[in-house]
Amino acid sequence: MYTQAMDTMKDGDPVKAVRSVDEVRLQEAFDARIDAGEFIEAKDWMPDHYRKTLVRQISQHAHSEIVGMLPEGNWITRAPTLKRKAILLAKVQDEGGHGLYLYAAAETLGTSRDQLFDALHSGRAKYSSIFNYPTLTWADMGTVGWLVDGAAIMNQVPICRCSYAPYARAMIRICREESFHQRQGYESLLTMMMRGTDAQKAMVQDAVDRWWWPSVMMFGPPDDQSPNSAQSMRWGIKRVSNDDLRQKFVDAAVEQARILGVTLPDPDLAWNEERQHWDFGAIDWAEFRAVLAGDGPCNRERLQARVDAWEEGAWVREAALAYAAKRHHNAIPMERAA
Ligand code: 3HC
Repeated sequence: MYTQAMDTMKDGDPVKAVRSVDEVRLQEAFDARIDAGEFIEAKDWMPDHYRKTLVRQISQHAHSEIVGMLPEGNWITRAPTLKRKAILLAKVQDEGGHGLYLYAAAETLGTSRDQLFDALHSGRAKYSSIFNYPTLTWADMGTVGWLVDGAAIMNQVPICRCSYAPYARAMIRICREESFHQRQGYESLLTMMMRGTDAQKAMVQDAVDRWWWPSVMMFGPPDDQSPNSAQSMRWGIKRVSNDDLRQKFVDAAVEQARILGVTLPDPDLAWNEERQHWDFGAIDWAEFRAVLAGDGPCNRERLQARVDAWEEGAWVREAALAYAAKRHHNAIPMERAA
């Protein structure tokens, strides 16, 4: 059913394409479980392409979380108050934790963490386009929370029902924390817009002007140009399409922007009575493609920061391994004695 087109012509070799009766039965049982809305666990049989799709998406997601720590980490020392510093510090730590849950979920599929990091550091792996934009002012912290974390939640809540259980379980916890991230960002902007100076209000508007379109792009290419969507939707890895999520995000953001008192930088935003949704202007997909190809404003800087962190942290990994080996060595006689 779902995967035959991909599985029957392995590497284009018709000999390898012949599948055993057992394999066909396993495939049918898998498809039936997906149809019934059941969750797939790490030890269950799954088609190769399902496994690869999950490793691709979960690892990209994990990389996005840890690269996503960089633009905000940059502002921890410059937060305007102790309260804002504590919130930002907690948020950035949360992102690191999300990365770890997700790497662990990807590892359950048989890919090692070293392989995942190698793909990131060598530039072979993708991470979210959004983290290749710079954070220029303090208002960017609130705006990233409101728009970027807002877009992330919109995309991630449906993944709590992803057919692969370890990913779904990780997402439940992540979404709770992302919800706090979005709220703290919005509250920070609200404070500046309600009680701030004219200069602070202008700073918020400038941040919204810069982050709006990259946030709208975050949902990925339009459905008719999204090569992975159809299969991922059939497998229950994705539950809602890129365009539908984007529309939900725009609909929610328009009302939130009105309450904040900021203008979204899209002259074509208009309520469509017939669709019962907000129409919005054309997205600059050339910019999106350039960012994915490594030519965004901060791609090189972000990747270099991750590579540096990996190399400078080598001694910590070595020390941890040496310590674990020593404990193991010391534990053996005691175990034997018991
Ligand atoms: N940035 C970078 N690459 C993107 C992208 C984006 N915003 N949107 C799509 N792409 C890539 C896809 O990964 C795919 O590349 P690949 O085939 O080489 O892997 C290609 O563009 C085509 O896109 P598709 O729509 O066909 O790909 P998917 O079906 O995988 O859908 C997705 C893309 C919607 C991002 C999906 O992978 C997804 O939902 N991923 C999980 C969520 C996630 O990774 N979010 C990233 C942000 S996390 C975050 O923001 C942290 C928070 O703390 C703020």
